[in-house]
Amino acid sequence: MGKRTIDDMNLKDRRIFIRVDFNVPLKDGTVADDTRIRAALPTIRKALENGAAVILASHLDDPKEPDPSLSLKPAADRLSELLGSPVKMAPDCIGPEVEQTALHPGEVMMLENLRFHKGEKKNHPEFAAGLARLADAYINDAFGTCHRAHASMTGVPGILKDAAVGYLVDREIRYLSEAVRQPRRPFIAVLGGVKVSGKLGLIRNLFETVDGFLIGGAMAFTFLKSIGYNTGDSRVEKDLIETAMDILESADLEGKSIVLPVDAVGVRAIEAGASHRVYPSDDIPDGVTGVDIGPETITAFTEQIESAGTIIWNGPMGIFEIPDFATGTFSIAQAIAGSRAISIVGGGDTAAAVNKAGVSDRMTHISTGGGASLEFLEGKELPGIAAIPDKI
Ligand code: 3PG
Repeated sequence: MGKRTIDDMNLKDRRIFIRVDFNVPLKDGTVADDTRIRAALPTIRKALENGAAVILASHLDDPKEPDPSLSLKPAADRLSELLGSPVKMAPDCIGPEVEQTALHPGEVMMLENLRFHKGEKKNHPEFAAGLARLADAYINDAFGTCHRAHASMTGVPGILKDAAVGYLVDREIRYLSEAVRQPRRPFIAVLGGVKVSGKLGLIRNLFETVDGFLIGGAMAFTFLKSIGYNTGDSRVEKDLIETAMDILESADLEGKSIVLPVDAVGVRAIEAGASHRVYPSDDIPDGVTGVDIGPETITAFTEQIESAGTIIWNGPMGIFEIPDFATGTFSIAQAIAGSRAISIVGGGDTAAAVNKAGVSDRMTHISTGGGASLEFLEGKELPGIAAIPDKI
């Protein structure tokens, strides 16, 4: 059935509050990466073209009090460039001055950083009411924040009632849920990143549906340690060694494949320019830390990727921020981009890696959410989505 969307809402001559996620990186007072702003454009344009006055709200970073360096003005300026029309910057996000700002159909106002007020994260009813007074209806197009039960995510739609999701959130829900519910097979999950603990919920939720896992990144070393390998100084979560062993055993019993690295790039010092070499993953000497998957692992993972029907990728294969240790992550990005599989990329780091590898336009779907996409794929109900009524 799905959630009510912007297409189910009357927009004409109404003030529409759109919660966006413009939590974007800034550099020298300008937006360094506008991916999240671009992703919200279809919803903003639709509202404007249909005669709405648009009020945009977002948080930026996590200030505890008003901080001019975390103003949303740079995001408003970038949006204005992308829209080709002015975006009014409000002096705050609530209060009489904001309420009295004249806004006509076809115009956009960007509210100031929601987290300048404590009421946002506390989901304070008075703060939510202050936001709700600005508008007639509510749209959630902030997928990246849907795992937060904050005032602008759950409080405002609770008051305005006439609430819907925008195109970005609708697309995220469709891709992230359909890929898992009705995957084209074989369905594999490529997991990486630093910690097994961060991926346990994901492994558990996907376990039933996937045909196999490819596990790289530092998290692989906890699995390798659990089968008795010498992982040197690589990062191992000691308290999860037993859990890792259980996962491997369950996979074995249930006929799911878990492919672990057979080799790793190791270094004695984790820094750019450090001398590095490839080690078999069962024999990494003490004093050496694994920082990337090795060439044989890349080949083994690529073979699996080439025959997959659906791939979910969450977590880089190594420390890709350092060019010498980026080969594994970029090779996997290239392999997924070149495969015939439906490819879903989740997690901020993974999305950044895909961008850096230059293959983002060849993925089926790159989630704009980091924590939110992970929680969604863990099968959790996200409060921001739960707050929107179902389609009738
Ligand atoms: C994100 O970047 O993950 C979202 O904007 C949520 O931000 P938060 O983790 O500060 O709530």
